[in-house]
Amino acid sequence: MSRLIAVSNRVSPPRDIGQGSVGGLAMALSAMMRETSGVWFGWSGRTTDTFTGHLDIERIGAMTVATVDLEAQDVEEYYNGYANKSLWPLFHYRIDLTDYDKSFDVSYRRVNERFARTLAPLLQSDDVIWVHDYHLFLLGRELRRLGVTNRIGFFLHIPWPSRQLLTTLPRHRDLVDALFDYDLIGFQAQDWMHAFKGYVENEIGGLIEDGVAHGFGKSMQVGVFPIGIDAEAFLQAGHSDAALETFARMRNSLAGRQMILGVDRLDYSKGLEERFLAYERFLSDTPEARERVFLLQIATPSRDEVEAYQDMRASLDAAAGRINGEYATFDWVPIRYVNTAYRRDELAGIYRAARAALITPLRDGMNLVAKEYVAAQDPDDPGVLILSRFAGAASQMREALIVNPFSREQTAEAIAKALTMGLEERKRRHAALLEGVVRDNVMAWSRDFVRALSSVTR
Ligand code: G6P
Repeated sequence: MSRLIAVSNRVSPPRDIGQGSVGGLAMALSAMMRETSGVWFGWSGRTTDTFTGHLDIERIGAMTVATVDLEAQDVEEYYNGYANKSLWPLFHYRIDLTDYDKSFDVSYRRVNERFARTLAPLLQSDDVIWVHDYHLFLLGRELRRLGVTNRIGFFLHIPWPSRQLLTTLPRHRDLVDALFDYDLIGFQAQDWMHAFKGYVENEIGGLIEDGVAHGFGKSMQVGVFPIGIDAEAFLQAGHSDAALETFARMRNSLAGRQMILGVDRLDYSKGLEERFLAYERFLSDTPEARERVFLLQIATPSRDEVEAYQDMRASLDAAAGRINGEYATFDWVPIRYVNTAYRRDELAGIYRAARAALITPLRDGMNLVAKEYVAAQDPDDPGVLILSRFAGAASQMREALIVNPFSREQTAEAIAKALTMGLEERKRRHAALLEGVVRDNVMAWSRDFVRALSSVTR
């Protein structure tokens, strides 16, 4: 069997998972890599004065983790800059927040090239290479330039923007041209693949037909591969001592009230301010619910060197403070707003104690919290998932209460509906959602992608 080489900017080996905040990519890859004897290659998260390409190699079970340090300037321009000030807002449909700077672009190219040069010597002829996410769009092309002929696939964990938005990016054509050096590109949802098709067909005169994209004189396979969670591990975590303890503590602190829960990285794509305002609307429309419900919002700080994240944090602090100031009573606070990271097992206990989860991103590649929430519920008394139609997960999780997060009224109505929903309906919706979460788990996702990649003929 071929070795699997996974490449991503962020590398969080299994021992780190559960220790703090990681995004969906690290969670999924960690679960997937535990099962293979492959190599996981990426940035160490550390800086060095001069890039040397020195690899830190660690063996964890059957897998090898290989990381490199980057220069501080690259972290600033490639990671904070091009990845998180240019691509991230653009790919989440927020061109108002984009910052396009030539130096970001130059550094992004340099880091992709450095990753390729460092990785190439590790490769064996029948390795299958799987590159992840928007930090590494150009890696496939850089590897090809070094003569690598292995199968190389790319998976995009975030949305793909519409053509009208993507064309605001300087050198957008070159970026998409580079993608055509991969053998297979995977998207989280049909919507993002449609947007990609729109670009290929209307911007560069290419064609996507029967799962094959043609453009720039090249062809590659394209497909939709919705990512899942490690459902079994999560169900087990739900029975751990830490989960049971956290659940008991949480139940105790409910004092008979219903809890609505949000769990997110502190990111403007997650729609946190809109969520607070919708919840405020619910409180104002439903006076009888006041003091009988509260919103626990866990928002773990992220990318805090980027200004847009600092600004958002300040406006969320203000919104939570204002709403609490307006509605709180001496023994009730409507929003418990927490900027801490919790371990997976603790989270499982918190999820289980929540009568509803409010997962309302404005734009999200998938959203694995929605799936974790479902996996953590007591099937005999499950909570209700309220999910944004703009999360990739919405196309799979039809039995959730699907909302438009830009509409406070609609979200407020969904909160009211979730909190009053009868047991039979909750159980019916939950059973259907759980079936999908267990079936379309992270192992199925990686197996499907690797199988599709391995069957590409070169
Ligand atoms: C999202 C992205 C990942 C990223 C994660 C955490 O899930 O798709 O690529 O790793 O956020 O963000 P960070 O910048 O901390 O790696």
